[in-house]
Amino acid sequence: MYNAFFGLTASPFTLSPDPNFFYRSPQHEEALANLIYGVQGRKGFVVLTGEVGTGKTTLLECLRDYLAYQRIEFAFLFNSRITPAEFFEMIAYDLDLKCNRSSKTEVLFALNQLLLQQAHVGSTAVLIVDEAHNLEWDVLEEVRLLGNLESRQGKLLQIVLAGQPELDRKLDAPNLRQLRQRIVLRCNLRPFDEQQTIEYITARLEKAGMRQQTVFPPEVLAEIHRRSQGIPRLINAICDNLLLTAFALESKVTTVEMLDEVCADMRLEWPGMRRRGPGGTVEPFPGDRLYGRGLPGS
Ligand SMILES: Nc1ncnc2c1ncn2[C@@H]1O[C@H](COP(=O)(O)OP(=O)(O)OP(=O)(O)O)[C@@H](O)[C@H]1O
Ligand SMILES: [Mg+2]
Repeated sequence: MYNAFFGLTASPFTLSPDPNFFYRSPQHEEALANLIYGVQGRKGFVVLTGEVGTGKTTLLECLRDYLAYQRIEFAFLFNSRITPAEFFEMIAYDLDLKCNRSSKTEVLFALNQLLLQQAHVGSTAVLIVDEAHNLEWDVLEEVRLLGNLESRQGKLLQIVLAGQPELDRKLDAPNLRQLRQRIVLRCNLRPFDEQQTIEYITARLEKAGMRQQTVFPPEVLAEIHRRSQGIPRLINAICDNLLLTAFALESKVTTVEMLDEVCADMRLEWPGMRRRGPGGTVEPFPGDRLYGRGLPGS
């Protein structure tokens, strides 16, 4: 809506996990390198965790691009609220296995064939599960068993589990001891620090056609970081709303007042936030007690 007004050729702050807008923060770069290393090195299990909106799915999309480019077979399960039967069906569908997809035995047989074929030509296959913190125990058990398939050269199927921090806690459960032992690499996505938030916003604007951004002055950038706590999805939502507000006011520059309005509309809360009390008095945000001080990136 505002693209033409700001001279943009694309929408800079969409909420989709688009690898074209990938910003290589050190933590995203390191996590992607780990995922690729895990796959190329036939390491078996790799786990990627991060708070809501920190970029896990975006990173998996980058991995997917890499795998497609390298012609490595993969199955990508983005819906993890599934039964074991659906799990096998989805794998068979994604890997285009020629078998009766509703028969677990047939799927396992066809999968094994494919894995051996891949190993024979010096390649491998990958199973990616997003939102893995939602996997039921019985599906996790099937995942573990798939991770057992190996040849002398290493694991036949590389398994990437991505999810919110609950995933780490789930994997620490006593009944998953065997699975936990097989996890070779674990990576965690932290929110951006202030410098990274600024670079992230600048990079997204640049990719959308704005070479040198002047629309977000330094004081606005600092406040965006503070209020989003460096979470990319929140940064996107704030920036998008902010550009829309500036556009409505026919202003090429955003201000902290506009940001206040946007945050109020979004019902956004952040540590250190001040609210107007009933008599107009300024009250601390009650969540401060919960958040404590010194949250990462705050
Ligand atoms: N490194 C990055 N470069 C570019 N955009 C990013 C990056 N990290 C996150 N984003 C953007 O932030 C938003 C949220 O990212 P994403 O959906 O990948 O998060 P998530 O960790 O999978 O969230 P959830 O826990 O809700 O599944 C998306 O719009 C995505 O484009
Ligand atoms: Mg996600």
